[in-house]
Amino acid sequence: MSKISAAITAVGAYVPDYVLTNQILETMVDTNDEWITSRTGIKERRILKDVGKGTSFLAIKAAQDLINKTGINPKDIDLVIVATATPDMKAAATAVFTATSIGAKNAFAFDLEAACSSFLYGMSVAARYIESGKYKKVLLIGADKNSSMINYEDRATCIIFGDGAGAVLFEPNTDNLGLQDEYLRSDGAGREFLQATYGGSSFPITPEAVADGRHYVFQDGKTVFKNAVSRMADAAVEILDRNNLTKQDVSWLVAHQANKRIVDATASRMDLDPNKVMMNIQRYGNTTSATLPLLLSDYESLLKKGDNLIFAAFGGGFTWGSIYLKWAYNSKN
Ligand code: UT7
Repeated sequence: MSKISAAITAVGAYVPDYVLTNQILETMVDTNDEWITSRTGIKERRILKDVGKGTSFLAIKAAQDLINKTGINPKDIDLVIVATATPDMKAAATAVFTATSIGAKNAFAFDLEAACSSFLYGMSVAARYIESGKYKKVLLIGADKNSSMINYEDRATCIIFGDGAGAVLFEPNTDNLGLQDEYLRSDGAGREFLQATYGGSSFPITPEAVADGRHYVFQDGKTVFKNAVSRMADAAVEILDRNNLTKQDVSWLVAHQANKRIVDATASRMDLDPNKVMMNIQRYGNTTSATLPLLLSDYESLLKKGDNLIFAAFGGGFTWGSIYLKWAYNSKN
């Protein structure tokens, strides 16, 4: 029997309607379009404004987009993973509510949290279930409502983050397409540089913490930036080297969109032609777990069967890594 590999066979996406532009941010904090554009590459981001709607709202919309595009029966889905750093609630997984809402009655579901690397790690997990031969359809959704934990008076974070979701379907492949190799790492020493301190089990939320804004995300941007640049690039280069891939072999770099300068630095270390680098940070900012599937959705029409995609991500924790995946289909668009 031929070896089973885990291929992405469909993509869906959703971003909320409200557009928070750099010009609007200029009226909220001491910043300006020129600084944000030159330091991050971001022009605007989407925000889910509706009261009472959480990450599951975004995840459900992205999954429904995928289901509508492919016509798959949700009852055939075996597993739903929601990769997210902003679950709807502390207890009761976002993935379970999402799975039920899309009609995935026969699926089991769970959340996966690894900050901005959640979706990358999720690809690894989804692939293992498929490769086991036991599961045929695994829906991996990356979704984050970052606006729920951002202080819109803190210019170090509010200019970067946005809300959104993307979904991919993993299915078995026997033509050696799909996930080929992965290099995933983590380092808890990074925790102090990017965290939302209050609201978890170490420091439950208190009125004082809320008054001080210690439930919001805090980051030491410079330290995170330095680590992101070196570790994401190291991981991507490691994946190239150990798979004997030259820069000509790479069709696309699919890199986490935290800062355009981080993506450019990774591409430059790989010596890649800039037109092989997927980029949409200008429109969405950093959507945490959603950046990679949103890139796939935006570039889906350009992807061809057999294309070599190198994924790379870096996030809080720290968490990071790179994945080599062969694209499995030609777009119908
Ligand atoms: O997804 C993983 C998580 N996050 C990341 O990967 C983010 C990584 N970090 C970054 O992207 C960057 O560090 C930031 C975009 C957050 C900041 O850019 P930077 O180039 O590292 O700026 P900085 O913090 O070193 O600040 C440079 C200057 C400072 O002014 P002075 O001291 O030189 O006078 C800041 O006060 O820019 C100032 N500044 C701003 N000015 C206008 C910082 N933030 C802003 C702002 N608007 N929003």
